[in-house]
Amino acid sequence: MSTPYTLRWGIISTGWIASMFVKDILISPTTRDVNDVVHKVAAVGSRAVKSAQDFIDKYASGDSSIKAYGSYSEVYADNNVDAIYIGTPHTFHYENALAAIKAKKHVLCEKPVTCNGAELRSLIAAAKQNNVFFMEALWTRFQPLALEVKKISESGVLGDPVALHADLSADFGIDTLDKGHRILAPELGGGGLLDLGPYPTIWAILALYEHPSNKKAQPSSITGAMLKTPITGVDRSTTWTVTFAPNSPSDPNKLAAQAILSVNINVASNNTGAAIRYEKGIITIDSPLYLPKSFTVQYFEKGETVKTETRKFSHVGHGLHFQADEVARCIRDGKTESDKWGHDKSLLEMDIFDEVRKQGGYKFPPGVEKVQLS
Ligand SMILES: NC(=O)c1ccc[n+]([C@@H]2O[C@H](COP(=O)([O-])OP(=O)(O)OC[C@H]3O[C@@H](n4cnc5c(N)ncnc54)[C@H](OP(=O)(O)O)[C@@H]3O)[C@@H](O)[C@H]2O)c1
Repeated sequence: MSTPYTLRWGIISTGWIASMFVKDILISPTTRDVNDVVHKVAAVGSRAVKSAQDFIDKYASGDSSIKAYGSYSEVYADNNVDAIYIGTPHTFHYENALAAIKAKKHVLCEKPVTCNGAELRSLIAAAKQNNVFFMEALWTRFQPLALEVKKISESGVLGDPVALHADLSADFGIDTLDKGHRILAPELGGGGLLDLGPYPTIWAILALYEHPSNKKAQPSSITGAMLKTPITGVDRSTTWTVTFAPNSPSDPNKLAAQAILSVNINVASNNTGAAIRYEKGIITIDSPLYLPKSFTVQYFEKGETVKTETRKFSHVGHGLHFQADEVARCIRDGKTESDKWGHDKSLLEMDIFDEVRKQGGYKFPPGVEKVQLS
């Protein structure tokens, strides 16, 4: 067996999701039957060097080969770093990713990848100019369960998809939460849509946009409604639809399907998950939408359920490592984007969010969007 490719990561920020990511990538890939790539944490950058060192001590067993830096720029400049993982709040993704790309580092950036589509277009252009890999960390798309759902969806056994319902709700305790928390603070791009919205959206993109009958056509319409909290004015609850429809009877994009998506930041999730309805059956995906552990397929004949199958999945770790394996393989193979979650899919996601925010009347405070929508 050949030696696995080692990807050397520089970690930007020492918050919650960065800790989860580092714990996951340090788990031996062989525990998930991955033998061709491994991960090494080469450096951690924080606004305070003590936080970086504490982070290494806590999540990387104090590994003395990992450099602790008191700035992000030192990580971008480190020659022992191949790829940067960005785990800062949404409103910093653009400037952090741009600085990393300009330093010719490959980038994996937390979701939502930017605050709007204009920022994302600017980052993609910069990544292309600097010939580096760039991807949004939409980890759910790389989980074995999602890959299996996609396979069944595209096999044709259920016919074409016709409707998709997906919800992700969580109780952030907003009545007592600090108003500066990223979920509540408008200056950090707060609210349900940007924070939780990527997860219902990813299932709509996987099942509808990516479906072969759609031929990568853009949605024919997007609608959105927002309910804002008086606490800070960010969206407490948002519902949106994404419709794919042929332009004419001769249009080769023959998919006619609608996604009904929702998020809420102050109700407990109640096993709503996702349901993808096809001409000849339903795939029901377990809650939570970001890390479902099972899905069920019901097969219909003449309106009756003739077969029901449930598939369960488990793995060592939280599940953020599957996306890291994809990044390592893409970089090893000289790719600048992933086939699974490429630039077009993040762009569609951000364009949907821009339209829903427009219709919902949610404007970020000045300074949040580093590149303005035209
Ligand atoms: N993939 C997922 O499942 C998932 C889950 C949760 C969150 N996220 C995303 O990850 C990002 C971070 O979320 P999180 O929950 O990890 O946040 P967090 O715990 O608050 O961590 C964010 C980190 O960013 C750095 N930072 C830089 N400037 C900051 C500022 N002005 N205010 C606050 N922090 C600042 C800080 O690290 P230093 O002090 O070390 O510089 C901080 O620890 C968000 O975009 C969120 O949407 C993804």
